[in-house]
Amino acid sequence: MLRRLYREQPESFAFTPENRAWAEAQISKYPEGREASAVIALLWRAQEQEGWLTRPAIEYVADMLGMDYIRALEVATFYFMFQLRPVGSVAHFQICGTLSCMISGAPDLIAICKERIAPTPHTLSPDGRFSWEEVECLGACANAPMAQIGKDYYEDLTPEAFIALLDEFDAGRVPVPGPQNGRYAAEPLAGLTTLTEHESGRTQYNASVQRAVDLGDTIKRIDGSEVPLSAPWRDGPGKGASAKAKARPAAKAAPKKAAKKAARPEAATAATATRPEALEAPRAGGADDLKMIKGVGPKLEQLLHSLGIYHFDQIAGWGAAEIAWMDDNLKGFKGRVSRDEWVRQAKILAEGGTTEFASKVKKGGVY
Ligand code: FES
Repeated sequence: MLRRLYREQPESFAFTPENRAWAEAQISKYPEGREASAVIALLWRAQEQEGWLTRPAIEYVADMLGMDYIRALEVATFYFMFQLRPVGSVAHFQICGTLSCMISGAPDLIAICKERIAPTPHTLSPDGRFSWEEVECLGACANAPMAQIGKDYYEDLTPEAFIALLDEFDAGRVPVPGPQNGRYAAEPLAGLTTLTEHESGRTQYNASVQRAVDLGDTIKRIDGSEVPLSAPWRDGPGKGASAKAKARPAAKAAPKKAAKKAARPEAATAATATRPEALEAPRAGGADDLKMIKGVGPKLEQLLHSLGIYHFDQIAGWGAAEIAWMDDNLKGFKGRVSRDEWVRQAKILAEGGTTEFASKVKKGGVY
């Protein structure tokens, strides 16, 4: 299918303040120079805000990430999850038309979409409230035929059940997602043989359906009001987007280095950066396995050795000034010390304790 930008585009796009703060938090997950890694998350958020992905939105996201427009356009036009033309203001129905669904009744569902919504996919219903498309396998084949509506799956559909769903959405209600034939999940139709908790009445729905019902947001567009926006990896636990926004106003609004340093709890200013004390060689008994520190791989370990760092207690003793120096001088790994909290980890290891990551390394679970 040819995927290109829609012929009619709005004049402009801007994230709401909440979505902008959320987007900046996403960008802060990635190292300096790798901000483009957040492109899919930001494009998705833009689509959630507008309903579909407009050219101004794609360019806005590219600007936030310092990307060429063509690079962001390549992503937006490659992935079918991005809607490049307007969708129904209430719901967009994605009918799986792949093998299991096709032989289990998907053509009937598509016929209903053609009759009730619009004769062709990606076309708005006359009132602009609904649209539909046929999609490839959505991975719920055991519950075929199925459709994704909003963020949720509606499974085990029959023409009657699907018409009932359409009626519900049309009436402004949000039907409970999941299997529509009484199945709990994808168990045999003859009944559960394992995972029988819900039979005892402990849970009404399966886990994903329960979450959807709890959130009540199947077709609600994400607008920043539904969950606390936070960037705990940067702001510390319990701090929200506003704190984050203060820490790093925008990728383009402030020099990147300064913004990152302000956001790092352990970082000091460049003016106070001090090279940590180095050893000429490991102490008797040999160097510690620095790869037990999450974020330190074989290359970084070598680099640390070349800087005279061999032991956990050396790292554990670093203060803000040493961290700042190391963060700036680990070529190719800038900012890793504070980002991965080496000092906190090293303190535990130096005292003979262990961390979740170190335990995994010991068991050989990290390669
Ligand atoms: S074939 Fe429809 S979900 Fe896999």
